[in-house]
Parts: sequence; structure tokens; C-alpha cells
Amino acid sequence: MKNTFTVISAGLFAALMAAPAMAADKITYYCSAQEDWCQLMANGFQDATGIKVNMTRKSSGETFAQIKAEASNPKGDIWWGGTGDPHLQAAEEGLTEPYVSPMRSELQDWSISQATSAGDKTIGIYSGALGYGYNSELLEKNNLPVPACWKDLLKPEYKGHVQMANPNSSGTAYTTLATIVQLFGEEEGFEFMKGLHKNINQYTKSGSAPIKAAARGESTIGIVFMHDAVKQAAAGFPIKVVAPCEGTGYEIGSMSIIKGARNMDSAKKFYDWALSKDAQALALEVNAFQVPSNKMAPTSDKAPDLDSIKLIDYDFAKYGSSDERKRLLKKWDDEVSTLPQ
Ligand code: F6P
Repeated sequence: MKNTFTVISAGLFAALMAAPAMAADKITYYCSAQEDWCQLMANGFQDATGIKVNMTRKSSGETFAQIKAEASNPKGDIWWGGTGDPHLQAAEEGLTEPYVSPMRSELQDWSISQATSAGDKTIGIYSGALGYGYNSELLEKNNLPVPACWKDLLKPEYKGHVQMANPNSSGTAYTTLATIVQLFGEEEGFEFMKGLHKNINQYTKSGSAPIKAAARGESTIGIVFMHDAVKQAAAGFPIKVVAPCEGTGYEIGSMSIIKGARNMDSAKKFYDWALSKDAQALALEVNAFQVPSNKMAPTSDKAPDLDSIKLIDYDFAKYGSSDERKRLLKKWDDEVSTLPQ
């Protein structure tokens, strides 16, 4: 049964890609995952189709802002990767194009739900749980306790030892803010963010930067998606990964076609290709340990097991809505980021 499905699926994909690329075919690709994965996807698509890829890598919130700023004269064709919330906001604000890919039958339910909730203007390409990681050597050297929960991060001993990204630029950090609000309620959640602020040594632009800094020994704890912490551990750095004891949120990393794309055919080809098993299998070449949305794409045994993590029922419709995302970010800017440390 599985073999028959695989044969049909490979046939479907080959048929989709059958139209030869014209010499002038090109695509402007905005990517919000990690640089090495973005680049590998660009090269993979170029090799598979002959379409020339012009790539820009920026964090999720930054890419959203760029697409919005360019809305009257769109420059990008496809936005691949990054947390789902800003993709949902882009859909709601009419910045992205509906598309129903013939690859859908191969996708996980959570990937399709993301599409359905956005009128087919976005789709899930991977998922992963939020958490944090710490440098075990630095922790020991500084005589710090081993953290296990979100609330542990408020301990005064960790002052100057915790790093996270800025939720305006980073989808990871926005997911952190929305997770804390959903876990503890808005009032207590903002008290938590204010307490955490006292321990933060830097708000970075990119979501994965805090765990890269911990891997290099420049900071002790980084609040990131767990798969980004596992990537550093797999590279041999002394990073331990924590699934916070209270429970945690997660992302549905997404992909959207930009409304008014100048290279619409290329954008649709990229979209179909990026949902294929082979394209999603590339993730493992760069130790990207997210859960792929294509049911047949391989996963690594190093990847965080989402079934064993206490996940909250993250409300994507609410926290990906334009009003809520704007409101929470403004509140964080006004009430948290401006506080003295
Ligand atoms: O590729 C790593 C990753 O953590 C993705 O899982 C996520 O969608 C993206 O980066 C978020 O990046 P940022 O926080 O910089 O927007």
C-alpha cells in the first residue's frame, strides 16, 4: 500500500514539474528559517527546475513587515518558513494569494488546518515546540541551578544569563510571548515577561541567535524552539534542551505566495516542490529537526518528540490575527522592553 502511494506520489510530483523551465524563469524567494536551510532549499529548487532563485533571509516578523511595506509594488514571489502567526496575519491583511496545491493529499492534518483557517492563503510546512536550551558547562562554572520550568527563568541568579529574541522581529519570540500569555493568563503572563526582562542580557533580531550564543559560550540560556537547541547539541556544543515543566507552545512553520507575485508560475512550482517528500527531506542535511508536513518525509530520531512534550492548545486563529498580534507587540514594547534592567 505504502509503495503504491509512493509511486503515485512521485508520479504526481514529476508531472507537476514536467513543464520545462524557460530560460528567463526566476523567482524572488523570501525565507524565514535558518540561513543554511534557506540556502539549501534555494539550491534544491534551482537544481530540480532550472528556475533561478534570488533569495533574501530575514526573521518572520521582519519579512512580514517587508511584504507589507512592498504591498503596492510587490517584489517577492514566495515566502517560505518562519512561524505561522505572521503568515496568518499576512493572509488576513490580504498580502498573500490563495492557492490549493495538488500536493495536499500528502500532508499532515495540522498543515491543512493552517491553510483552511486562512482561506488557503498559507500552509503548514513544518512544526516544532518552543522551549529553551542552556550551556551546561557555563551553568556549572557559574554555579547556577539546572532550570526545568518557565518560572525557573525568573530566579535572580540568572540575571544577565538569559537571551531571547525581540518579538517584533522574531516569530520565535512572538511565539514565546503568546505562549506565556496562554499558559499563565494575560496579567500574570505580562508580570512573567517583566520579571524575565530583568534577567535578559540581549534581545536579538533572529529567533535562533540566543542558542547560537549559548553554544559559543557567550550567554548561558537561550529561549528558542527546541529543534534549534537540538541542532547545536548535534553539532557537538554542550547544549542541553528543556521542555518547560508547565507545558509549552509550538509553531506551524508556514509558506505563502505573495499577492501580485511577478513570477506567479514559478511561485506555484516552488510551493508544490516545497511540499514534496524529497524537498522536505533536505531538512535533515542541515540538521533542521522540525516535524515535516509531508507525511512521507523522513524524520530524525534526534528530533524532539512532540508526543512526549506537554503542549498547550495554541490558539493560532487568535494569536495569528492582525489585531491581537499588533496589540500584544505594542503592549510588550510599552510595558516590558522599556523597563530598566
Ligand atoms: O529555522 C529555525 C526556526 O526556528 C524555525 O523553526 C522558525 O519558524 C524560524 O526559525 C523562526 O525564526 P525567527 O524567530 O527568526 O523569526
